[in-house]
Amino acid sequence: RTVYVNGDYLPEEEAKVSVFDRGFLMADGVYEVTSVLGGKLIDFAGHCKRLARSLAELDMTNPHSDDDWLAIHRELVARNGIDDGMVYLQVTRGNPGDRDFAFPPADLPPTVVLFTQAKPGLADNPMAQTGMRVISIPDIRWGRRDIKTVQLLYPSMGKMMAKKAGVDDSWFVEDGLVTEGTSNNAYIVKGNKIITRALSNDILHGITRAAVLRFAAEAQMEVEERSFTIDEAKTADEAFISSASAFVMPVVEIDGAAIGTGKVGHVVPRLREIYLDEMR
Ligand code: PDD
Repeated sequence: RTVYVNGDYLPEEEAKVSVFDRGFLMADGVYEVTSVLGGKLIDFAGHCKRLARSLAELDMTNPHSDDDWLAIHRELVARNGIDDGMVYLQVTRGNPGDRDFAFPPADLPPTVVLFTQAKPGLADNPMAQTGMRVISIPDIRWGRRDIKTVQLLYPSMGKMMAKKAGVDDSWFVEDGLVTEGTSNNAYIVKGNKIITRALSNDILHGITRAAVLRFAAEAQMEVEERSFTIDEAKTADEAFISSASAFVMPVVEIDGAAIGTGKVGHVVPRLREIYLDEMR
């Protein structure tokens, strides 16, 4: 696999990042994940815009223009022959040459790493037919979840808690209300209405979320941006998650309780189809 590091396209075995890199020592960096379907980048402009925002919130300079980022993404997709898969992009605050809590001078070049992952049949994930099962766990992450940082230890632990419980993912709960999934935004459906938490520093502003809500409104569905409890979710007709890599994925069970019929409903597959049709 060819990866990108600071301007170079290299075989992955030859790519190097310093042990003093602040991404490695302090999780001081941000990332984006963009899906590729049939060789096409999905919602690239959205990811580029959020990347710029994440960097700005952390006082980091965006090392590239949107056009440059696009060119790098396309080059990597081409070099690795990616048909279906994803491009991972990470920008960290770079290598100050030592360990220090204070940020290095702003002119220190950041470390830019991109790589691809092939995922043949990404849009045909069988889970879209069966639905996912989730458990709820406390949200003990930091207070700036709107910044897409590489600090993913607790989301990883949440995934492992789900695995241990024999289910697919965890939904985070704070003050009795669902924030989001470990790596996705969370929704419930009641009748023709789609309910998902409003944007704030408490959740990542999902690029897929923005598109899904737009398409839902265009399809005459009602959209309510507000928080909900696990109890309300358990009595909903349907539930789902959205993310760049899962698109729209039904959730059929929460903490052992079946949502609606316990089977994939009608609204969520329709939304998934609309999303994939519009974005491909
Ligand atoms: N995760 N919430 C969290 C905590 C996330 O990590 C993600 C994305 C989302 C959905 O955002 P988007 O629709 O822009 O992908 C919500 C990515 C896919 C990941 O970490 O792999």
